[in-house]
Amino acid sequence: MPLLEDFDFALGDQLLKQVDADLFKKGMRQLTAGVTIVTTAIGNERRGLTATAVCSLSSEPPTLLACVNREAGAHDPTLQSRVFCVNLLAAHHRDLAALFANPDKVEERFDSGEWGVLESGAPVLMDSLASFDCILGQTMRADTHTVLTGRVQAVRTDESLEPLLYSRGAFGSFIP
Ligand SMILES: Cc1cc2nc3c(=O)[nH]c(=O)nc-3n(C[C@H](O)[C@H](O)[C@H](O)COP(=O)(O)O)c2cc1C
Repeated sequence: MPLLEDFDFALGDQLLKQVDADLFKKGMRQLTAGVTIVTTAIGNERRGLTATAVCSLSSEPPTLLACVNREAGAHDPTLQSRVFCVNLLAAHHRDLAALFANPDKVEERFDSGEWGVLESGAPVLMDSLASFDCILGQTMRADTHTVLTGRVQAVRTDESLEPLLYSRGAFGSFIP
């Protein structure tokens, strides 16, 4: 029985097959996602980006994860401040989602939307579907991105609102 240490990682890498990135993206376009804005604050500076790579990790303790590109303007400030908030967007936030995904509109981002704070000091969208205010937990560097785990300190929700969805490159709403 070979030991784990005996595994030839070089050979393993050679055997590792990598599909074409466009084919991967074509497949992932079929995954309909809820849309969030992940925010952080460092002093008076607020940063945020639109993100769909977010999910629940565990409920005990309440923890979520978010995957943020290392080039994103909010990436380094989040690692520095060690706080972030995941704001789930409602159907009426379509323009806000586009704004927080537009690299040419970094300075104007927090001029739109109703922003406040809960526990951590990270910007909270006060008319979101739900907001999860987090202290940064573990981080994992994964090529172009960092996987962030967030220990949830406070949650606000509004169950009267409908979610904003992203599917096949377009924003839309949920029709049951
Ligand atoms: C629907 C949608 C989902 C996105 N999801 C993510 C994501 O999960 N993680 C990420 O790093 N960027 C994601 N992006 C890209 C960022 O929002 C975009 O690159 C943004 O401009 C980064 O912020 P910056 O301009 O301040 O660097 C997404 C963009 C869109 C339109």
